[in-house]
Amino acid sequence: MGMTILPLEEHIAAEVRGIEVGSPHSEETFAQLRRALYRHSVLVFHDQDISDEQQVAFTRGFGRLQVTMASDPYGGGGFINRIANVDEEGRLIPPRDKRSLYQSGNNLWHSDGSFKAVPLRASMLSAKVVPPRGGETEYASLRAAYAALPDARKVQLEGLVAEHSMAHSRAQIAPGLLTEAFRKETPPVRHVLVRAVPETGEKALYVGSYASHIIGWEREKGSALLKELLDWSTQPRFVYRHRWKTNDLVMWDNRSCLHRGRPWENGIYKRIMHRTTLAGDGPTVS
Ligand code: OGA
Ligand code: MN
Repeated sequence: MGMTILPLEEHIAAEVRGIEVGSPHSEETFAQLRRALYRHSVLVFHDQDISDEQQVAFTRGFGRLQVTMASDPYGGGGFINRIANVDEEGRLIPPRDKRSLYQSGNNLWHSDGSFKAVPLRASMLSAKVVPPRGGETEYASLRAAYAALPDARKVQLEGLVAEHSMAHSRAQIAPGLLTEAFRKETPPVRHVLVRAVPETGEKALYVGSYASHIIGWEREKGSALLKELLDWSTQPRFVYRHRWKTNDLVMWDNRSCLHRGRPWENGIYKRIMHRTTLAGDGPTVS
């Protein structure tokens, strides 16, 4: 049976039916999926009971994988990032534990890896254990948000560069969340504020919780602009909310959407997700 792509919201997200991601696929199938990803920013696959190896193999069909950072508390140098509220022994991590607070940075709107000079191209999340309620993930279209801006605003934003850092994101949660090693490995970086997705030529706003201020602007003024643009981009009309079922696999293009996790009763229910990521093609500023 052929694959079908069903749009979920006007501006963002589509469900992909008729494919088993755990099986090998032709280059033609990946080309079709890539086009769907560029077009919809988020692809949803249901009922994909896959191993980590199968997830890695499927991710590789889209391009070069990124290994997690050595100092990342939830990666540790492999291909799989475990986004989970359980420890190695499968015990719940208390909500007030530093590890839970660190992960709650995911609940702020962000684009994966924007705190790195070469940010991540795309991410894929496989739901292993999901809570009975809450714990959704929301996605906001940065393309639709840019396209809907008044022309004068677009002109004003052209050429602006923002500073992004891990420290700025986690400072919004609590002080002292980053280990010394992780902080050292993640110095502030710069990214263009308006970013063109090379395959489509479409422009997207590149904002999110890692972005702190605008280079060359007075700090307050820059952070106010970034906040305004973040609020603009995450209006309900640009957002898809994914309610997870076990064995859902969701892939998104970090260049054209933001995402955030939503809270759940994390002191009671487990939530275990496995993430793979695709490496970016280069810095956004020259
Ligand atoms: C991620 C992420 C949010 C969530 O995996 O990159 O931000 O809802 N996840 O788990
Ligand atoms: Mn993320």
